[in-house]
Amino acid sequence: MNSKEIGLIKKVAEIFEKNRDHILEKWIELVKIENIISNDVELGYYKDGFKKLIEDFSFYLKDADFEGYYRGNSELAKEIAYNDISYPKFVEAFHLFEDSYNDLLSRNIAHSELLRCLGAIDKLHHTTISRVSQAYFEINDVTVFALAKLAELRDPETGYHLERTREYSVMLATEIGCAEDFVNNIYKVGPLHDIGKVGIPDRVLLKPGALTDEEYAEMKKHPVIGADVILSIIADHHISRGYLLMAKDIILHHHEKYDGTGYPCGLKGEEIPLAARIFSIVDAYDAIVSKRPYKPALPHEEALKRIKKDSGTHFDPVLVEAFFRIHEKLHATYERYKEDFKFGVKVR
Ligand SMILES: [Fe+2]
Ligand SMILES: [Fe+2]
Repeated sequence: MNSKEIGLIKKVAEIFEKNRDHILEKWIELVKIENIISNDVELGYYKDGFKKLIEDFSFYLKDADFEGYYRGNSELAKEIAYNDISYPKFVEAFHLFEDSYNDLLSRNIAHSELLRCLGAIDKLHHTTISRVSQAYFEINDVTVFALAKLAELRDPETGYHLERTREYSVMLATEIGCAEDFVNNIYKVGPLHDIGKVGIPDRVLLKPGALTDEEYAEMKKHPVIGADVILSIIADHHISRGYLLMAKDIILHHHEKYDGTGYPCGLKGEEIPLAARIFSIVDAYDAIVSKRPYKPALPHEEALKRIKKDSGTHFDPVLVEAFFRIHEKLHATYERYKEDFKFGVKVR
């Protein structure tokens, strides 16, 4: 947005400040005429939402604080998503916003400036919609994570392992230059890696001592059990790209080893999908430095030693190198979770 347009937006924000109630009433009236609202509960959400949006518009934009305005809108979008309001309807309602203030602007802005002013608001609305969509769809990530946490309930390997490994995986993927979509997806689906453990019987999963060969063979089925669920969703919905494919890759292949001696498929080197190679190294790191029922927490330096030793056999050597470049950041993340989650409650 150029300085002339910013000036016009500030002017509009001041006009809005003085006419909040008028805009809100007009907007609600238009939304009712278009039959966007199906019941009184929804009407309540829309009224509160529009009110906040108009307030944010005047509050942030009279000082040209665009980021503050977008942030406010994004919070609103999340609230809407959590309250099960239809997104297409919400966008439709948002578009009626323009009609609720047009007459007001034509009365308060000089005719010579009006067109340029409407153009500036149009630009603003476009950015708003794209920011808001992003926030709205984040709720989907929350649902995926909730699913992973649910599966983890039966697993004794808890203690924020999922939160930490997803953060490490983002750092490692970023370090090797993965595209933004890849990084976002690994953050989203990495926590699902052990979801197949829900299909492992308690006598194996919760056994305190060492597993017999037979029990270990049973335990090794968890990648296939988990991947089967995702594969059926992929097939039913003809999905050919996106995060569910990465979920399948990580769930099925996070126990493969670089030299081909892993399970379940015995894939070798770059046959193992990159996301699974990344996850296997961060999963192992976290397992080494964390306390588990069958082992104490080992120091960070010990984890470095073991990972280095297994470079090229268990782990992709290129990823091990990248891991060593950022190992201090990973360690700091581990420590931060210890601090944050003292007493079992997030304290910050
Ligand atoms: Fe696993
Ligand atoms: Fe894990």
